Amino acid sequence: MDKFVIDGGRRLFGSIRAQSAKNSVLPLLAASILTEQRVTIRETPPISDVACMAQILRELGAEVRFEGGDVTIDSANACDHRISSALTKELRSSVFMLGSLLTRFGRAVCAYPGGCDIGLRPIDLHLNALKRLGVEIEEREGYILCSCKRLKGADLVLDFPSVGATENILLAAVMAEGRTVLEGAAKEPEIVDLQNFLNAMGAKIAGAGTDTVVIEGVTKLNGCDYLPIKDRIEAGTYLIGCAVCGGEVEVEGVNADSLGLLLHKLRENGCKIHVKNDKIRIASDRRLKCNRRIETRPFPGFPTDLQAQTAALNSMAEGCALIVENLFETRFKYVPELKKMGADIEVNGRSAFVRGVGRLHGAAVSCGDLRGGAALVLAALGAEGTSEVLDLAHIDRGYADMEGKLKSLGAQIRRVRV
Ligand code: EPZ
Repeated sequence: MDKFVIDGGRRLFGSIRAQSAKNSVLPLLAASILTEQRVTIRETPPISDVACMAQILRELGAEVRFEGGDVTIDSANACDHRISSALTKELRSSVFMLGSLLTRFGRAVCAYPGGCDIGLRPIDLHLNALKRLGVEIEEREGYILCSCKRLKGADLVLDFPSVGATENILLAAVMAEGRTVLEGAAKEPEIVDLQNFLNAMGAKIAGAGTDTVVIEGVTKLNGCDYLPIKDRIEAGTYLIGCAVCGGEVEVEGVNADSLGLLLHKLRENGCKIHVKNDKIRIASDRRLKCNRRIETRPFPGFPTDLQAQTAALNSMAEGCALIVENLFETRFKYVPELKKMGADIEVNGRSAFVRGVGRLHGAAVSCGDLRGGAALVLAALGAEGTSEVLDLAHIDRGYADMEGKLKSLGAQIRRVRV
C-alpha cells in the first residue's frame, strides 16, 4: 500500500488538464458490450476502477485493450452473463452491468455491488425499474439473478434521481421493444454523456440532462469511437486545492456548468474565479472565509463528491460552516482523520458543523474512501509541516497521477511504497 509524503504550505501555480470522467467512462464501458462491433473510448484515465471494469468485461469474454491512453473493446466473443462476486464487491458500477447483460444476453447474475463505504447504497430503484421492463429477478444468497425473454419498453418513474439507476434503465431500455419514458431521471452530465455515446452507436434516446428521458428501442447497435466528457469532480478537487493553498491555477477541459454550485461557493470563500470556454481559472490569497451553509444535492446542486474536499477547505477558513450531506448516510468518515490535523468539526447524523481554525498542522492520516482521501490530501497541502496520507488505493480508484498533477503545480508531494 502506498502513501503520500506532503510538505504543506506551498502555493500552487500553473495549468492542468482534467482526465476523462471516471463516472462517465465506467457506464460507457458497461455499454460497450451492447454491440459485437469494436468500441473505442478515448483518453481513458488509468485508474483502478477502470481497470476493474475492464476485468469484468474480460471475464464475460470480451477483448479489452489499453493503447496509448485509449481503450478498445471487442465483445463479439462475449458469452458469459455472470459477474464474479469479487469484482462486483470492488466496484459499485458493476450494478449497471445488469442492464447491459440483460440487453445482450437476456440474463444477468451479479452479487450485490460494492464501492466506497459511504452508505447503505441500496439498489431497489434499479431492480424495480428492471422488473417494470419485464425482468424476472431472484435474490439468493447475496446474488441477484435476472432473466427476461424480451425487454419491453414501459413508463417508469424514479422516486429519487439515482445516477446509477438512470444509467441502468438506459442500458436496459435501449434495445427493448417499444418506447420507455423515464420520469424523475438523474440529470448529471454523465447521463448526457451516456445518451450521446449510445446514440453514436445508433440508439434513439432524448432528454438526458432533464427530468424526462425518452428511449425508443432499436434492434441493433454498432461500434463507435468516442471521447468522454472530462471529470468535473477531479477538476473541482484541484480547484479547491488551489483555494486551500493559495496561488493561481487553471483547469482545462471541463464545462463550468457541470460543476454545479462549486464555483459560486468558492467565490463565497473569497476566491477569484474566471471562466473562459472550457478553462476555469482560480486565484486565492489563502485568507478564506467559511461558507455559512453547504447542502449536497443531486445535479445541479452542490456535488456530494466534493463534500469532503469543501469540508477540508472550510476547516482552514475563517468563521464556521454547516455542511449537510443529503445523499449518503455515512459520508463523514474522513472527519476523525482531519481532526488529527487540528480540524474542529462536529458530526451529527447527516450534518457536520465546521469551525475554521485557520491553519491545520501536519499528521499521519489514512484514506477511508475515494473523496475523503482526496480531502485529506488537500488538507495536507494547506497544512503547516509534513503529513503522510496512507492507503492510497482509495485515491487511485478515481484520480489518475494525482501526485504528478500536484507536483506540476508546485506542491511538495511524493509517493512512497510502504
Ligand atoms: C453515482 O453513484 C456515482 N458513482 C457516485 O460517485 C456519486 O456520489 C453518486 O452517483 C451521486 O452523484 C458512479 O457514477 C460510479 P445514486 P450511485 O444511485 O449511482 C440512493 C464517486 O466518488 N439509492 O445517485 O451509486 C443511494 O443510497 C462516487 O465518484 C437508493 O436508495 O448514486 C444514495 O443515497 C461515490 N436506491 C442516493 O440514492 C437505489 O436503488 C444516490 O445514489 C439507488 C440509489
